[in-house]
Amino acid sequence: MTRSVCPGSYDPPTNGHLDILERAAGLFDEVVVAVLINKSKRGLFTVDERMEMLTDTTSHLSNVRIDSWHGLLVDYCRHNDIQAIVKGLRAISDFDYELQMAQMNQQLTGVETLFMPTKPENSFLSSSLVKEVATYGGDVSHLLPGVVHRRLVARLAES
Ligand code: PNS
Repeated sequence: MTRSVCPGSYDPPTNGHLDILERAAGLFDEVVVAVLINKSKRGLFTVDERMEMLTDTTSHLSNVRIDSWHGLLVDYCRHNDIQAIVKGLRAISDFDYELQMAQMNQQLTGVETLFMPTKPENSFLSSSLVKEVATYGGDVSHLLPGVVHRRLVARLAES
């Protein structure tokens, strides 16, 4: 059985994330979407909320499951018999850091990272920018799954 992980903060999941998850699901027997705690980023949504949104938006993908992890990605891969990490690459600016992490992870345990280019229409899309635009009233409805957009608007209205 081939099993990969798509790790990320997913705060919140965007159409760009969903595109990568759908394409990865076509390549592996099982894809685990792992919500990882990124200590350098303050979250708008809790890990449970992010997992709920991911569960809702991937319900049409029978070989995708959602999980979370606090710790090293390589340890998650080892504990879950995962052979490959799949990462979406938007632009060359992503590449430097992603390459560094891929090489570090490979060196730590031998786990491989596969880079998947995003669709061009998603190459500018990030959770951080979506949150910033939405905070100041910009329309981001076309960049997010409907359920995520509704939760984002509600969350920002609370603050
Ligand atoms: O969506 P993001 O924030 O770009 O995802 C980055 C993430 C969470 C995948 C990355 O920070 C990560 O793998 N964190 C887990 C901790 C870890 O393994 N750190 C060492 C990386 S070489």
